[in-house]
Amino acid sequence: MGLREKILAKKAEIGIVGLGYVGLPLAMEFVRSGFSVHGIDIDEQKVCEINRGNSHVLDISNEVLGAALQSGRFRAYSDYGVVARLDCVSICVPTPLRKTKDPDISYIIDATQNIRKHVHENMLVVLESTTYPGTTEEILIPEFMNGQYQLGKNLFVAFSPERVDPGNPVYNTRNTPKIIGGVTRECTELARLLYEQVIDKVIPVSSTAAAEMVKLLENTFRAVNIGLVNEIAIMCDKLGVPVWEVIDAAATKPFGFMRFTPGPGLGGHCIPIDPLYLSWKLKMLNYNARFIELASEVNAHMPEYCVQKITRALNHVKKCVNGSRILILGVAYKKDISDVRESPALDIMRLLEQGGASVDYTDPYVKELRMDGQLRRAIELSPEAVRSYDLAVVATDHSLFDYEMIQKAAPLIFDSRNAYKASFTNVIKL
Ligand SMILES: NC(=O)c1ccc[n+]([C@@H]2O[C@H](COP(=O)([O-])OP(=O)(O)OC[C@H]3O[C@@H](n4cnc5c(N)ncnc54)[C@H](O)[C@@H]3O)[C@@H](O)[C@H]2O)c1
Repeated sequence: MGLREKILAKKAEIGIVGLGYVGLPLAMEFVRSGFSVHGIDIDEQKVCEINRGNSHVLDISNEVLGAALQSGRFRAYSDYGVVARLDCVSICVPTPLRKTKDPDISYIIDATQNIRKHVHENMLVVLESTTYPGTTEEILIPEFMNGQYQLGKNLFVAFSPERVDPGNPVYNTRNTPKIIGGVTRECTELARLLYEQVIDKVIPVSSTAAAEMVKLLENTFRAVNIGLVNEIAIMCDKLGVPVWEVIDAAATKPFGFMRFTPGPGLGGHCIPIDPLYLSWKLKMLNYNARFIELASEVNAHMPEYCVQKITRALNHVKKCVNGSRILILGVAYKKDISDVRESPALDIMRLLEQGGASVDYTDPYVKELRMDGQLRRAIELSPEAVRSYDLAVVATDHSLFDYEMIQKAAPLIFDSRNAYKASFTNVIKL
């Protein structure tokens, strides 16, 4: 049976490399569609927990994972040996930044080199990790090409950016349209065929670089628009104009305007990081990606801006940051999820502590937090607890917070997310 026939008959053996926020939901979609799926992750502890039916990804319940394991069509592995009997492999490993803010594609290189050891004829490899345009051609292809394979004939390689939005109740892996760009037309067609088995709508583009660029356009669009609205918030503050009212009113325009909201800064694995992959690549071509640099600068400044406003609010009631007890409400980077990667709440905590404040946090999704090597525990939220702080900061607007109780108990609140729509004398907004 050829690879095409195997895919159509759902007999193709699928591998997912990297079982994180992206890889595990994708693996579950392939299982749901009837494929046999083999997950590979270098984190042995994670592999062990997954095989026990304990999901670390909020969007995948233990029930869904348990059912996949019980079906006998899903298993996780911590070594790559299984690749030898796989037909299709999707790579979903992290693509962070180095301390110098340069792309760190070492995870992609490691995954590719490990797959290469077991690569065989009639195999499809798809890179999903967000990365700079050119990565698939420059990194994957040279690894796989050793004279034995002909791309598009007996080995197929494509790029397909993941668009997962953790915690989104409407859009998930299945119903979010997916972009595919292959190294050759045959690669695109085969990858399209595979993903059409599990995803409602698949959109082919002309090359891997175009597919890589699509993802960077999407995330740069968000980073730049968030940067713009953050700067509008700073300008409104200086003008004494309420920014949230301005945004709500502007959003009534039914065309030509898209609502973005200001906040304490960017977080997560995508928006603060991905645009810098693009600007890095352009620097190598002697071009300065000005919008990206400017948006990054404005967004990165937001935690400091929040602390300036907190300082002013405390000053107003004859208190100072130094010696104040401050409670951070929500440390996840956005509402109703547990992910704290790059969370601006952590920057606010650091800045306040540097200023001499005593800072605690509470978060229904993050019971424990390792910050700068130190383990912290969330405090239990109660009127007495809230009352004991000089100021509370809404850093993440989780739906589970009892905002009315907090407003009644807290002497002072800094609301960076517009959690309070009405105005209260003890609530200061961003
Ligand atoms: N999280 C999101 O919301 C999101 C959305 C769209 C795209 N992406 C992109 O998807 C990619 C994966 O992101 P994520 O959030 O799932 O990351 P993650 O950190 O949640 O998961 C990555 C997994 O890969 C494993 N891993 C690392 N190196 C490995 C290797 N060499 N071999 C096998 N496994 C390895 C890690 O142990 C981890 O479990 C990134 O490029 C990211 O930019 C993420």
